[in-house]
Amino acid sequence: MNICCIGAGYVGGPTMAMIALKCPEHRVTVVDINEKRIAAWNSNELPVYEPGLDEVVSEARGRNLFFSTDVNGSIAEADMIFISVNTPTKSYGVGAGRAADLKFIERCARQIAEVAKGNIIVVEKSTLPVRTAESIRRILEGCGGEFTFQVLSNPEFLAEGTAVPDLLNPDRVLIGGEQTPEGDEAAKTLADVYAKWVPRERILTTNVWSSELSKLTANAFLAQRVSSINAISALCEATEANVDEVARAIGTDSRIGPKFLKSSVGFGGSCFQKDILNLVYLCEHFGLPEVAAYWEQVIIMNDYQKSRFVRRLVRTLFNTVSGKKIAILGFAFKKDTNDTRESPAIYVCRDLLEEQAEVHIFDPKVKASQVFADLQQDALNGNGEPNPNIIIEEDVYAACENAHAVAILTEWDRFRDLDWQRIYDNMLKPAFVFDGRNILDAPALRKMGFEVYGIGR
Ligand code: NAD
Ligand code: UGA
Repeated sequence: MNICCIGAGYVGGPTMAMIALKCPEHRVTVVDINEKRIAAWNSNELPVYEPGLDEVVSEARGRNLFFSTDVNGSIAEADMIFISVNTPTKSYGVGAGRAADLKFIERCARQIAEVAKGNIIVVEKSTLPVRTAESIRRILEGCGGEFTFQVLSNPEFLAEGTAVPDLLNPDRVLIGGEQTPEGDEAAKTLADVYAKWVPRERILTTNVWSSELSKLTANAFLAQRVSSINAISALCEATEANVDEVARAIGTDSRIGPKFLKSSVGFGGSCFQKDILNLVYLCEHFGLPEVAAYWEQVIIMNDYQKSRFVRRLVRTLFNTVSGKKIAILGFAFKKDTNDTRESPAIYVCRDLLEEQAEVHIFDPKVKASQVFADLQQDALNGNGEPNPNIIIEEDVYAACENAHAVAILTEWDRFRDLDWQRIYDNMLKPAFVFDGRNILDAPALRKMGFEVYGIGR
């Protein structure tokens, strides 16, 4: 088959690279309108940092994996077209701040309608509101093109930072199709692609609407676990219970399970918040305000956790951080990724800048230009000049030197292994550490003289 994937982002790039690696008999072309991104996929510095991805791409690229800006040309040749474009939260008009902005999806559908040929399978890879496949179907049907088609839903469950192992060994692959002989045939064609490396019993097929809704539901459940343990962390701080001990105790109950119970400064990433807001919007749209309010609370709790972190820091630093150097260790939304979308670090830095702190930011994978883009208006002062209170550090020890406090905002492994004695010696005293990920050995640090504040302890 000729496989085309529209969208060379965090999902399109890695998923197609894995399909190409495992299915040398198919030709896979990933297309994007973003020329810089495509150039990076064709270079030695991929636009997405994922452990193990370089090896996967370099084995398949040029053999049966191609990255191109020729969107129409690639669609015209394709038997199967994945749509893996971004579906951000709408920022304008009806549903602003909640609904998914589907303009990129509609644009893809219209492009396919214009140039596709033969018998094609269109696969929704992006995360979409339930019943989006219906809109795609209507656009393709109404165009009078020279093709027949089926629309499948095949949501992606990989997590950033572990994309390669997640794709190699997924818990399940979900395929939703129309419940007709043609729909079943299309679902089987896609299942055969995955079956090259995923055991058949882990390839689940269902109807389109259930598949679309399962993706939103999975993210909502995962985010809800983080908000639930974070809610308990606030109670732990008030009662001297330890949230990691509570998580360990409840996680051994096989009905609850140990995963996704790590209390933190808040969840980030491009999807949890956007997908829950989308779910909330759908519930409101279908006249279910109680259900909407239930899920919205997951977001409210996450916002509370991020602002609570800053309030505690300011309170501890004698109620003012104005003019004080604060070292920010980690800006990515989790370790092992260069992605900063919705990273709690953005919100923490903005609040600290608001309090007139001087933030010195170190992240091993995030570029300075990305940090400035994320901090938006806070990155500039009143005259449109760069805000002098934002300093990007290349060296983690320089970031901490003469600081009043260190805040760990991403759980990069290397932060655990730093020379903390050296950091202590070069900080102002009292030397405060706010561990927003509970990764440090707090008793050892206290022995050195640090005042350590974790989450929920
Ligand atoms: P992304 O922003 O990294 O990539 C999307 C790409 O699509 C961009 O490069 C953009 O230029 C391109 N694009 C948009 N419209 C286009 C068009 N008409 N033609 C060609 N290219 C076009 O987004 P992402 O993180 O890869 O997410 C994509 C989808 O997958 C979203 O719906 C997201 O919710 C979902 N998802 C993401 C993850 C994740 O870990 N990031 C995991 C599972 C699902
Ligand atoms: C998440 C889901 O895990 C994926 O299954 C899904 O495909 C993806 O969203 C998506 O749809 O985009 P991702 O956001 O990449 O993946 O990363 P996660 O590991 O889920 O972490 C999300 C956030 O929650 C991070 O900020 C992380 O630090 C935080 N988190 C996670 C916690 O604070 N505690 C935990 O116990 C787990």
